Amino acid sequence: LLLLLRSRKRRDGEPPLINGWIPFIGKALHFGKDAHKFLEEYKKKYGDVFTVHIAGKYMTFIMDPHLYPSIIRQGRQLDFHEFTGKVAPLTFGYKPVQSDLWEKIRRSFQLLQGDNLQPLTGSMMSNLILVFRQDHLDHGLWRSSSMYDFCSSVMFEATFLTIYGRPAAALRHSDMEALREDFNKFDNMFPLLIAQVPIWLLGQTSAIRKKLIHYFLPERLSRFSNTSEFIKTRVGLFEQESSMKDVDKGAHHFAMLWASVGNTLPATFWAMYFLVSHPEALQTVRREILDVLRDDGVEFSTDSDVKLSKEQLDKLIYLESSINESLRLSSASTNIRVVQEDFSLRLDASRAISVRKGDIIALYPQSMHLDPEIYEDPQTFQFDRFVQDGAEKTDFYKDGQKLRYYLMPFGSGSSMCPGRYFAVNEIKQFLSLLLLYFELELEEGQPRPALDPSRAGLGILLPSTDIRFRYRLRANEA
Ligand code: HEM
Repeated sequence: LLLLLRSRKRRDGEPPLINGWIPFIGKALHFGKDAHKFLEEYKKKYGDVFTVHIAGKYMTFIMDPHLYPSIIRQGRQLDFHEFTGKVAPLTFGYKPVQSDLWEKIRRSFQLLQGDNLQPLTGSMMSNLILVFRQDHLDHGLWRSSSMYDFCSSVMFEATFLTIYGRPAAALRHSDMEALREDFNKFDNMFPLLIAQVPIWLLGQTSAIRKKLIHYFLPERLSRFSNTSEFIKTRVGLFEQESSMKDVDKGAHHFAMLWASVGNTLPATFWAMYFLVSHPEALQTVRREILDVLRDDGVEFSTDSDVKLSKEQLDKLIYLESSINESLRLSSASTNIRVVQEDFSLRLDASRAISVRKGDIIALYPQSMHLDPEIYEDPQTFQFDRFVQDGAEKTDFYKDGQKLRYYLMPFGSGSSMCPGRYFAVNEIKQFLSLLLLYFELELEEGQPRPALDPSRAGLGILLPSTDIRFRYRLRANEA
């Protein structure tokens, strides 16, 4: 304990070191409250690179986005999986994975991309239509609802059906609401689990996690039909592991449920919220979708089921820009790399820092996303910020120099999210259906919800309050 309580001294060549006044807990409390503000304050005081003692770890933050490439490129001495390899098993409740199985699991991530995106996107479209038709498209009167709850119930179920499949003898699972409730309870504790707070200190969380894991036991999963190739491949991989218990397999499937909806649900909420609260943006995006359909000979009518192919989704640049803009405003993930040996880390042509084995190098892209030099008026939602001359805008500048990385909600390099293409497509599909079928408006007198900081560092932030909105079926255009 004494060793833990003794804070360390800065060595020659190392960045400025900031120890908290409560050793060990360090600056964790301060960081957790408002990570963006916390880091901006230290940047002003200590410059672009500094080390902070946070919850027993020494984290070196690289704040200048021009230096990001030197970290992202560095594969050998800066490792991502050392971190997730330890934290994910504790969080989701499976045994740590041997490196050969881990390699096979990583290879299976390809099944979320490339040619495999086509069947996933097609299946997601059918599932979204199914849920919208059965739950929301049955009336022409105004209905009032809570936006986060609306987005998350539709996206949770449609994503689940697309990835894990449906019951053998029905189109929908009867227990989705109960599963989502348990998922939400677990998700509320997620930041504490990731911070490695023992699960037995977290009330009902252990029992809820057990229930969630049992939902995915192999015997149960084998009765689903229309399961994605991605999950079928993972089932096959786990079957070959004779030493792997059924509960460990269930826990891996449950972890994938978290990966597939944990960020997608809040990301969908923010994209919907910003469009509904900016009617002129909503009109432009709706027009774009109708035009893309019309160009392909489809006259949209709310009486029939619309299908948007992957190629059509790719053409929706204003919709994509709106999603990117809402990701910019809501994402707060940290990109973490663990230092594998003491060495001198080159940051650019003129600068290198000494780093120690076991320390963490961290990028915090929210600081870049909200930098007024890169994004003018950074707190404002500008739906066309990522469009230039009718195509995607990719040139953003800082200090007069073009940035290689300017938008990083999905992480970077070796740890980049393998589900990113699927995620953007499914958000596009959800929003397209929403805009095509419904008139939408916010109920009056509600300010823009704040970002709930409790999962700062971990992904897309949730809104601190839900928002009431109204919707009804649109009249068909004459
Ligand atoms: C990892 C973001 C949706 C599957 C990650 C990471 C981020 C992220 C930031 C970690 C990268 C790092 O630590 O550097 C997001 C966001 C999403 C989203 C913002 C939605 C808007 C999805 C979806 C899936 C998915 C839909 C699957 C269907 C994964 C997996 C990993 C991951 C499997 C772990 C990769 C690894 O360990 O190498 N995601 N994600 N994600 N994501 Fe996503």
